[in-house]
Amino acid sequence: MAGRVLRTKLCDMLGIEYPILCAGMGPVLIGEKAGSTVDLVVAVSEAGGLGVLGGSGFTVDELREAIRLIKQRTDKPFGVDLLLPKSVVSEKPVDYGDIKELPLSVVLKTIPKPHREWIRKVREELMLEEADIMVRLDTTTMRPLEAVKVCIEEKVPLFCAGLGNPGFMVEEAHANGIRVLGITGNIKNAVRMRESGVDLLVAQGHEGGGHTGRIGTMALLPGVLDAAGDIPVLAAGGIGDGRGLAAALAMGCAGVWVGTRFLATDESGALDINKRRILSSSDEDTRVSHAYTGKTSRTSYSKFHDLWNGSGLEPLPFPMQVLISSALMGSFIDAGREDYIGGFAGQISGIIHEIKPARKVVEDMIEEASDILMNRLPANVILK
Ligand SMILES: Cc1cc2nc3c(=O)[nH]c(=O)nc-3n(C[C@H](O)[C@H](O)[C@H](O)COP(=O)(O)O)c2cc1C
Repeated sequence: MAGRVLRTKLCDMLGIEYPILCAGMGPVLIGEKAGSTVDLVVAVSEAGGLGVLGGSGFTVDELREAIRLIKQRTDKPFGVDLLLPKSVVSEKPVDYGDIKELPLSVVLKTIPKPHREWIRKVREELMLEEADIMVRLDTTTMRPLEAVKVCIEEKVPLFCAGLGNPGFMVEEAHANGIRVLGITGNIKNAVRMRESGVDLLVAQGHEGGGHTGRIGTMALLPGVLDAAGDIPVLAAGGIGDGRGLAAALAMGCAGVWVGTRFLATDESGALDINKRRILSSSDEDTRVSHAYTGKTSRTSYSKFHDLWNGSGLEPLPFPMQVLISSALMGSFIDAGREDYIGGFAGQISGIIHEIKPARKVVEDMIEEASDILMNRLPANVILK
């Protein structure tokens, strides 16, 4: 791919070669590795895109270590994504004193009895053992202000806010040379983010993997582009090859934010079963459900969805529902019940048929988008 040039203003802003960002992907379940690991971040940044670390499952100290490791392994720009609560400034972190972790079986005692009874019943019916999982009480999600401080002290090139509005830290970030990215699933939120001074906006459509909104990417993008004004917008949700990149650029986006496609790479931290599930999925094999986290999230379909739908239970608020899904997923994984296992993944799974090195994902996307924009589009469209 030597010599291929495909640049937008995003490349100048972030100091990268290609307008492709690997989405920040944290762990879905307690005890799971993050989807976007240090390896994946480094690989995407070294390939000319920009890798974003999914920092939500790390402790604050581990986050600092991971950032330093990335800096040791690449001198290219990279990002860190944190799941900020809605009111990050007013919410006081829960103080567990010296207790850093507790067995999931102990923490589960804090959830309502009907939900506990349901977990017991499912385990009994499917003859599953209790999984031996520890719940960490000092992750970045529990300590968002400390985690943000680490990002600022480490002067990460790009700070990305999954879920909440990063407005409260924009000024300090800018004073430290850090760009700030916000993620939105609707126009109203895009306006709020713009007003809070973010440098970049990701517009993530309904088809995307993980926590997702109600608006499809095609309908979302023009509205967010209008609302964003001068702020560059990245398209997300359902982008997995050069066709998606070319379409996003044609729409007026400055680049793309890609999750599921990068999950199916050698370097991603997804469980093997989840990688295989993406490869074997058709476009109809994902579901949006409250079952995993209590918020609407899109995952590969598994029989866990049917179990939850048949439970008659109300989902617990985020992140309590994660205790339920983790308890059962842990048991399914230990028992090898792959038919009940599925991780965050988007509808684009339907066109992903092989695990590739992350560099190849970037190169293939750029090659195909370039070919479309230079050759295929002019050949297909009569313009006068
Ligand atoms: C396994 C996985 C984990 C994710 N975790 C996060 C996260 O921690 N923070 C975040 O902002 N978005 C997260 N997302 C959403 C992605 O950032 C991104 O918006 C989405 O994957 C884009 O859609 P696509 O999967 O169709 O590419 C996650 C997505 C996946 C697939």
